[in-house]
Amino acid sequence: MNLTASIAGITFPTCIMNAAGARCVTAEELEAIGNSRTGAIVTKSMTRDARDGNPSPRYVAFPHGSINSMGLPNLGHQAYVDLIPRLKEFNKPVIASVAGFSPDEFVDIATAIDAVKPDLMEINLSCPNIEGHPQIAYDFDAAEQLLTRIRKVVNRPMGTKLPPYFDPVHHDHMASILEQCRVDFISVINSIGNGLVIDPETDAVVIKPKGGFGGLGGAIIKPVALANVRAFALRFQGRIPIIGVGGIETGQDIYEHLLAGASAVQIGTAFVEEGTQMFARLEQELTTVLESKGLQSSTEAVGRLKEL
Ligand code: DHB
Repeated sequence: MNLTASIAGITFPTCIMNAAGARCVTAEELEAIGNSRTGAIVTKSMTRDARDGNPSPRYVAFPHGSINSMGLPNLGHQAYVDLIPRLKEFNKPVIASVAGFSPDEFVDIATAIDAVKPDLMEINLSCPNIEGHPQIAYDFDAAEQLLTRIRKVVNRPMGTKLPPYFDPVHHDHMASILEQCRVDFISVINSIGNGLVIDPETDAVVIKPKGGFGGLGGAIIKPVALANVRAFALRFQGRIPIIGVGGIETGQDIYEHLLAGASAVQIGTAFVEEGTQMFARLEQELTTVLESKGLQSSTEAVGRLKEL
């Protein structure tokens, strides 16, 4: 079975990789990903300076999902500038996830990271967990201005990580901005921001930051993720490749993301829960599903969703 993927001219040994955020902050975590069966190494979203992030508890799994408000704990961009050349030795694409607290910070980090040539750069416009900083991708003008500025300093393939949208007018608007800004790929979706989970035993919220509000991930978000992959795939018609993220636990979940139009997938919650052996399991399961459909490659499934 051929599970390779090609995105922005970069070949991925498999179409299955970790999502930014999950177990990908430290050199040890990133090397463990490099040593696994994952198809790429995706870093935690980096900021200019190192951060400890929000107070704990800040990630909790519950049946069929997770809630987190990590608060961008990361080593600071210089540590990733130093690390990326080593990560490239694992012979799979390295995707550097870039965040920031101001447009200047994004541009400065993107410039420094571009110089060490990650295979791709993923600009995170959708972190929901920093108090006082709204998700940039919900402000269409700000997102367009920022992507325009970053595009000017980035020579590597550059994509963006988006939050879920819930209205076709918003998909139309964002799709046209992304084409205008010459984005090379998108990753959809980030966690569904600012959900609330309540513990029935204690009558309390389950995470400490922001009064318990946090980003939702895991199985419960799959229909929203699939809808966003499909909505952008219909608009791009293959011009901009899509990495599907959200609610993947099984090979069937990956297959559904491919049908909706994803060329590759990223996995967050299930990777946090299961660890690096998950990638080999998902490869097996996806292979079984594709074989049962009479397909010889994951690429053949991309965008083949049937409508009624
Ligand atoms: C964090 C969460 C996100 O969903 C994201 O995109 C970036 C950072 C966090 O809380 O660390």
